[in-house]
Amino acid sequence: MRVVLGVSAGIAAYKACELLRLFTESGHEVRVVPTRDALRFVGEPTWAALSGHPVTVDVWDGVHEVPHVRLGQQADLVVVAPATADVLAKAAHGLAGDLLTTTLLTARCPVVFAPAMHTEMWEHPATVANVATLRERGSIVIDPAVGRLTGVDTGPGRLPDPAEIFEICRTVMAGRPRDLEGRKVVVSAGGTREALDPVRFLGNRSSGLQGYALARTAVARGAEVTLVAANVSLPDPAGAKVVRVESALELREAVLTASADADAVVMAAAVADFRPAVRRESKIKKRDGEPEPIELVKNPDILAELGERRRAARQAAGVGSVPGPGASSGVGAPPYVIVGFAAETDDVLANGQAKLARKGCDLLVVNQVGEGLAFGTPDNAATVLVAGGSPVEVPRGPKEDLADTVWGLVAARLV
Ligand SMILES: Cc1cc2nc3c(=O)[nH]c(=O)nc-3n(C[C@H](O)[C@H](O)[C@H](O)COP(=O)(O)O)c2cc1C
Repeated sequence: MRVVLGVSAGIAAYKACELLRLFTESGHEVRVVPTRDALRFVGEPTWAALSGHPVTVDVWDGVHEVPHVRLGQQADLVVVAPATADVLAKAAHGLAGDLLTTTLLTARCPVVFAPAMHTEMWEHPATVANVATLRERGSIVIDPAVGRLTGVDTGPGRLPDPAEIFEICRTVMAGRPRDLEGRKVVVSAGGTREALDPVRFLGNRSSGLQGYALARTAVARGAEVTLVAANVSLPDPAGAKVVRVESALELREAVLTASADADAVVMAAAVADFRPAVRRESKIKKRDGEPEPIELVKNPDILAELGERRRAARQAAGVGSVPGPGASSGVGAPPYVIVGFAAETDDVLANGQAKLARKGCDLLVVNQVGEGLAFGTPDNAATVLVAGGSPVEVPRGPKEDLADTVWGLVAARLV
């Protein structure tokens, strides 16, 4: 595909070199269009050498090819990374003073902006309004990550990991539907750790890959995503708000808080059913003789709690408690759609059906653990059980495929 990579004058411009490599190495034809000031951060020879194409910033070079029109018209995707506050403002107002802004005006393909700037600039009402304008017109503006900025500051404004920006672009080019636009979704990912003492915990093998794939695909489908991540060591998905937790109790708190105004909650995290009754203040010592028994207590059932809260709210609103297509709209008792995950080793479908009925969720993704599936692998295969509908089989494939099936079913219920 033909990609225009716009680079504006943010300190993160050097990260666009990696983004460029990701595009070229996966076979895309990339024309880099920096702004004049961006060349102060990374010079023209770097872009020309890495892209294999000449690089210019203004509309007066190679005029016989009319580049100010041609590049945008011919592109299959335009991505601006980093996008400065200045470029966002120019794009929102239709200014056309250089090659990047003329390209943005002539492009009819999907346009992705990956802003990066200091928090104050990102949160300024002018930038907020410009971003809203661009989104209204159909551009995809990826929320910046939270983290270390130039100098000692930290906060929202950091350019997401280039690999994550690439992932979004890849899914946009693949024509993923934008059916979650304007929707708020919460995804939990990873596996909880229940502390025994300051150094030990009871945990599980969940890597967070499936939850992260869900978050990434939801961003690509246009959703505002809060990702509650329990002990995951993966790069933050671009555009998602990441809340880090450790234990089941912390995860519960974060999920309930984030889901108070959410349209959908997907509980992909592996949450411990039990936790040690006592968390020792100091390390448990090896003693002679018998090992010390560990007393466990039950953790709250977050999925059942979400279902119960919704049932109560719907009852209060005078709507039936059985969720189904269309039942969610206009009820005013979010989360509208609740999705659970069940990893089973035996009687996979029977256990899944029982769990779906017990928890009162809309969808239950049931996967068999083992045989290179589920935990820690990039692939998954599952059956999605649907309340009031037929199960959907998802054959073995990338976790993004399963995520897309889930979001397709969720989007259908949000109509
Ligand atoms: C060291 C340095 C770092 C900067 N980083 C950013 C940034 O991350 N985001 C931003 O919006 N502007 C940043 N600026 C300000 C822009 O470079 C400035 O607004 C410039 O005129 C933008 O030009 P452009 O949008 O045409 O590329 C930075 C400036 C300097 C000197």
